[in-house]
Amino acid sequence: MPDDLRDWLRKVQQLNGLRILEGVDWNLEMGFFTAENWKQKESPALLFDKVPGYAPGFRVLTSSIQAPSRVALTLGLPRMTSDIEFLEVLRQKLRQWEASLGNFEPNLVPSSPVFENTLSGNDLDLLKFPAPFWHEKDGGRYLGTGDALITRDPDTNHVNLGTYRVMVQDAKTMGLYMAPGRHGKIHCEKHHAMGRPCPMVLSIGHHPLVFATGCQQFPEGTEYAFIGAIQGEPADIMIEEVTGLPVPASSEILIAGWCPPGKTMKEGPFGEYTGYYASGERPAPIIEVGRIYYRSDPIMLGAPPGRPPNENSFYNLLITSVILHHELEKSGVPDVVNVCVHDIVRNLLVTVSLKQRYAGHAKQVAVLASELAATGGMGPRYVIVVDEDIDVTSIKDVFWAICTRSEPDKDIDILRRVRSSPLDPAIRKPAEAFFTSRALIDACKPFEWINEFPEAVDFSSDFKKKMLTKWGRKQEGSKNGY
Ligand SMILES: Cc1cc2nc3c(=O)[nH]c(=O)nc-3n(C[C@H](O)[C@H](O)[C@H](O)COP(=O)(O)O)c2cc1C
Repeated sequence: MPDDLRDWLRKVQQLNGLRILEGVDWNLEMGFFTAENWKQKESPALLFDKVPGYAPGFRVLTSSIQAPSRVALTLGLPRMTSDIEFLEVLRQKLRQWEASLGNFEPNLVPSSPVFENTLSGNDLDLLKFPAPFWHEKDGGRYLGTGDALITRDPDTNHVNLGTYRVMVQDAKTMGLYMAPGRHGKIHCEKHHAMGRPCPMVLSIGHHPLVFATGCQQFPEGTEYAFIGAIQGEPADIMIEEVTGLPVPASSEILIAGWCPPGKTMKEGPFGEYTGYYASGERPAPIIEVGRIYYRSDPIMLGAPPGRPPNENSFYNLLITSVILHHELEKSGVPDVVNVCVHDIVRNLLVTVSLKQRYAGHAKQVAVLASELAATGGMGPRYVIVVDEDIDVTSIKDVFWAICTRSEPDKDIDILRRVRSSPLDPAIRKPAEAFFTSRALIDACKPFEWINEFPEAVDFSSDFKKKMLTKWGRKQEGSKNGY
C-alpha cells in the first residue's frame, strides 16, 4: 500500500524535520509562524495541533515540501547537495515517470479511513476544520491552499487534480479562483455550457505528493498516473458517492459538491505568490457543498503563498525548470544545457544555458523559453540566455554574464502584448485584458567572434581534479585555501 500523509509524517519525524506547535490560533498566527519558517531553506514542517476553538487532533500541516530534504522524500529522490544536482536528477526522473505513465492507472480500493466521518444536510459545516486566515489583508479563511480539486471533463472523461485557492463563504459554500485556461476551469465551463452544475471534490488533506502533482502543469488527466509513477505503485482511489468522482483513498478530508452555472460570490483579496494582493476582491465561482468526509483526527494541508521565496518556491523552481527543459528539448532545439525558473517569483525570471551551435541559436532558445514557460498564465518577464559555463541557478553568475557578455543596444529584445494574468501586480486593475511584455536578454558571448572572446579566468577542470585528488574536498573553500 502506498504511504499516506501519516506515514510521510513519521518519516519526516525520523529525519528530525517536524515541529509540532500547540495552541497557535488559526487567525493569522499559523500564517505568521509559517511565513517566519520560510526564512531558512531547510526548516521543519509545521504541524499545528490543539488549535484554540477546535477539538485536539483537528490539525493543520504547513511547509510540507518547503525544504529540499522533504522534496526529495516526497518525490522518492536521493538527498542532493546542490540545486544543479537536484535539477539534473529530477530531469532524468521526469523522463522515466512520463515514459511509464501507462503502467500506473489508479487502483480502485474497497475502503478508506476518510469515510470514518460523514457530514451532510444540516450538519454540513466547513468551519469544523481550523481553516486559517493566512495574511492580514485576506478576504476570508482559506480551506484550500495545499489542496487538490478533482473534476472530470464531460467530453473526454479525463479526471483532473488541480491546486486552486478555496475560501470559505459560509458553512456550506466555498469560493474558488481558477485562472483562465486551468483544466478545472475548462471542465467547469464545459459543464456550464451544457446548462448543468460541475461536480467537484476538494481534497484538503493528503500525502504532499497529491499537492505536488496538483499544483503543476501535467497534461490533463495524467495526475493520478503521475502520482503512481512517482511513488512506484498505482495511486489508490475510491469513488465518491454524490459526484461519482474518483478521489484519493488516502485523503484526510474530502468536500464534495457542485459549481453551479451563473452564480458567483466575492472572493479575495488573498496574499498571492507574487508577494502582493494583486487580484483584489472579485466575483468568483462557488462550490455548493453536498457532503464532507473526514478521517478521525484529520490533518489539513496548508500551503499559503506569500512574498517569495515562500514555502512552494524551491519545489516550483525544481519542477517548473525541469518541465521547461523537457519542453525545450521536445521542441527540437539542440544543446540546451540547463534551465532555471528562479524562485524570485515563480515563472517571472527564467535563465537558460546552452552550447551555442549557430548564429541565432541563443535568440531562438529565448523566444521558445519565453512562451513555453507562459503556459500556466503569467509567463516570464525576463528570459536570460547564457553560455554553458554559467551556473543558471546562481543570480551572481548570471549577472556576471549579463554585465560582461551582452551589449544593451543589441542584446535585449522586447516581446509585446504577450500573455499575463489577473495576478500580475504590474497590471493596473480593472483591466480589459491581461497583456504584458517580456525582455529577452542574450548574455552569451557574441557568436560571430566567440573564439576571440577573452578567456574567462578560472582553473581548468583537469587542474581542479588534480587538486581534489591531492587535497580532498574538505580543503575546498576552507579558510586557508589550498
Ligand atoms: C500553493 C499554490 C496555490 C495555487 N493557487 C492557485 C489558484 O488559486 N488558482 C489557480 O488558477 N492556480 C493556482 N495555482 C497554480 C496551479 O495549481 C497550477 O497552475 C496547476 O498546474 C493547475 O492545475 P491544472 O493545470 O490541472 O489546471 C496554485 C499553485 C500553488 C503551488
